[in-house]
Amino acid sequence: MGKLSKIEKKRDREKPGIVFGNQWDYAPAPEATDFFKLNKRYELFIGGKWQKPRSKSYFATISPSTEAVLAEVAEADDNDVDAAVLAARHAYDRYWSRLAPSDRSKYLFRIARALQEKARLFAVVESLDGGKPIKESRDVDVPLAIAHFFYHAGWADKLELAFHGRSVRSLGVAAQIIPWNFPLLMAAWKIAPALACGNTVVLKPAETTPLTALLLAELIEECDLPPGVVNIVTGAGKTGAALVNHPDVNKVAFTGSTDVGKRIARAVAGTGKRLTLELGGKAANIVFADAPLDQAIEGIIGGIFFNQGHVCCAGSRLLVEESIANVLMRKLRDRMATLRVGDPLDKNTDVGAINSQMQLDKIRELVAAGEKEGAERFSVSCQLPKKGFWFPPTVFTNVSLSSRIAREEIFGPVLSTLTFRTPDEAIEKANNTAYGLSAGVWTDKGSKIFHMAGKLKAGVVWANTYNKFDPTSPFGGYKESGFGREGGRQGLSAYVEVV
Ligand code: NAI
Ligand code: MG
Repeated sequence: MGKLSKIEKKRDREKPGIVFGNQWDYAPAPEATDFFKLNKRYELFIGGKWQKPRSKSYFATISPSTEAVLAEVAEADDNDVDAAVLAARHAYDRYWSRLAPSDRSKYLFRIARALQEKARLFAVVESLDGGKPIKESRDVDVPLAIAHFFYHAGWADKLELAFHGRSVRSLGVAAQIIPWNFPLLMAAWKIAPALACGNTVVLKPAETTPLTALLLAELIEECDLPPGVVNIVTGAGKTGAALVNHPDVNKVAFTGSTDVGKRIARAVAGTGKRLTLELGGKAANIVFADAPLDQAIEGIIGGIFFNQGHVCCAGSRLLVEESIANVLMRKLRDRMATLRVGDPLDKNTDVGAINSQMQLDKIRELVAAGEKEGAERFSVSCQLPKKGFWFPPTVFTNVSLSSRIAREEIFGPVLSTLTFRTPDEAIEKANNTAYGLSAGVWTDKGSKIFHMAGKLKAGVVWANTYNKFDPTSPFGGYKESGFGREGGRQGLSAYVEVV
């Protein structure tokens, strides 16, 4: 049963109601940015060449923590998309589908190694362009992206083994559209399995975070991949739609909002194009009274506040067993008060900038709705930088299951708390959502973990940990969280036809 420690009890007696945060402050420890220079302008990477957009149009990508313009990026129109798909088709027919699988494997190993060598550059640019803390991009995003290329390099010449001895055929040209929350990692999740299985690719990164995908294009160029095997086109929704609708595309892979996912599903229906969708989530992180509470606090904090809650599988609904709710919330608020919000490039930062003004508006709107619906709000009182887009870590208690903050994906550092009394009630509440991407269970009892995992309708269930990833384990959702899996042996089936 969770209890407050002696020190916590003493503090409660002496200063009731006070949240205990930082007792000291760290000196700034910013990551260096003087070891690279971004181009002023990035063109489209089509057929192994940097091509000026036929649209003649460019847009700026900014750093959400300072609002400074980082670079101009080409905006691909229908003609540019057409050229990219044509280049991918040509590369498929001419080179990639004819190559020995073991040679595809070598190229993927080469990309993985080159990425390893440039890990620091990719981490810094990821944090600059998207606003996530360098701790995250350096220790999570980039290493996982590398691991993904290594993992799939290993599969390229063993696909028959992956499918129990049956032969497989590649699909052709894959159109891949990715979001802004894990720009490099999502590019790796999409490109690595597609290439390993013998397909060629046209990838469109999100409009607010195109830079690491463009650096990846430069790296792929250095790795001397046959021209057109990987094409990167930048632009916003219109560019994405042009890519999805292109008649010469064989497979569409999308990660992003459920709204756009549904639109894509409709556009692809009846065309014969293969489709996988990885959409939103509203994960329940379930804490039982017998859980190791201090450990659970770390999992709750990491599950929603690191990365500003810009994670589709974020543990955005905390389900706490009623008997420990007070103690857990007390511990949670104390821990939240120690979170450092600020410069994404500072090595001490836990919570960086919100990705865009649009996303910040959405978070503010939902938080206001939460307050209006009667939930109790606690936000960390920290000084937020004057420029850029910021939101303080926030937790709601007294949340009703039907309220918007309990149902809609907020995609920000905002946690909604509900309580339960029995495992069955926890399961019912956890599954009472349109989504089904992930869930977390915190308990001392192994039997309870298996019981819960079997009943939770979520693609991933983490036990006594949260947001742990590995290229060997498949990831994907149920219901409105989409379909298809990425990673693991299962993830390969999205990119092959078993014959
Ligand atoms: P979005 O779904 O509009 O953007 C994702 C990608 O799809 C971007 O590359 C975008 O350019 C592209 N896109 C947009 N419209 C398209 C269309 N009609 N056809 C093809 N591609 C299109 O997501 P957005 O607007 O950036 O964020 C809105 C909300 O979506 C967020 O607040 C969050 O709740 C959710 N979201 C979920 C993500 C996830 O990983 N599941 C990632 C990003 C956002
Ligand atoms: Mg940006």
